[in-house]
Amino acid sequence: MKKKILRLDKILAHMGYGTRNDVKKMMRKGLVTVDGEVIKDSAVKVDPYEQIIIISGEQVKYREFVYLMLNKPAGCISATEDEYEETVLELIDDEYRVFSPFPVGRLDKDTEGLLLLTNDGDFAHNLTSPKRKVPKTYYAQVRGQVSEDDCESFKKGVILDDGYLTKPAVLIINNSGPVSEIELTITEGKFHQVKRMFQAVDKEVIYLKRLSIGNVSLDEDLELGSYRELTEEEIRNIAKL
Ligand code: URA
Repeated sequence: MKKKILRLDKILAHMGYGTRNDVKKMMRKGLVTVDGEVIKDSAVKVDPYEQIIIISGEQVKYREFVYLMLNKPAGCISATEDEYEETVLELIDDEYRVFSPFPVGRLDKDTEGLLLLTNDGDFAHNLTSPKRKVPKTYYAQVRGQVSEDDCESFKKGVILDDGYLTKPAVLIINNSGPVSEIELTITEGKFHQVKRMFQAVDKEVIYLKRLSIGNVSLDEDLELGSYRELTEEEIRNIAKL
C-alpha cells in the first residue's frame, strides 16, 4: 500500500468535494470524520490510503491519478477548454473531470480513435517525449493508389513541406485503389504528421483514426465519444515503454 500523508482539505478538494474553501466550511460544520473522529482543522494531515475519511456520511475513496482511453470522435479538439470549439474534456463525466485530466498528445479535430487522458504528468511525459520514440499506429483512407514505393519511401523517411525528414515509419497497405486503405506506424508526432507524410508522396488522407499507442490498442467495444479507464495491465504496459 502506498504511503501518502496529505492535508485533509487538499484530499477532499482533489476528490471533487468543492474548493479548498468549500471543504473548510464543511469541516467547520463537523461534516468530516477521520477514523471516526470529527476533524474541524483543515490543516490536519492524514494518509488517505490508510485512514477512513467520511464526508457528509460518504466514505472518500481516495485516488491520485486517473487514466482514461477515449475513442475520440471527429469534431472536437484535443484540449481541456476552448472558447469556440468542443473539446474532448466535454465528453468526460464529472466523476473523472474533478481530477483535471488532460489529453496525452493531440489528435487533429477531424481525426478519430485512441486518445489517452490523465492527470499524471510523468505518465504523459513518458508517452510524448520524442526521446522515447513510442510507436503510434494509424488507420487511414488515402486518396490515390498507395504503392510499395510509398512503403519504401516511408521506411527511409520523407521530406515534409517544412523540410523535415521523417524518421523511419512502417506502412502496410490493406487495400490499394483510387481510395487506398493503409496502416502506418510512426514513432514521432510532428504537427499533422500522417497527413503531411502522404502529401509528401502526392496523396491525400481523407480519413484518419489512431489504433494504438505503444502496446495499448483502442478498445473495439468503445463507441465513438465513449471512454473507459485503462486497466492496471494497460497502465503497467505503458509504464514499461
Ligand atoms: N497525424 C495527423 O496528420 N493527424 C493526427 O491527428 C495524428 C497524426
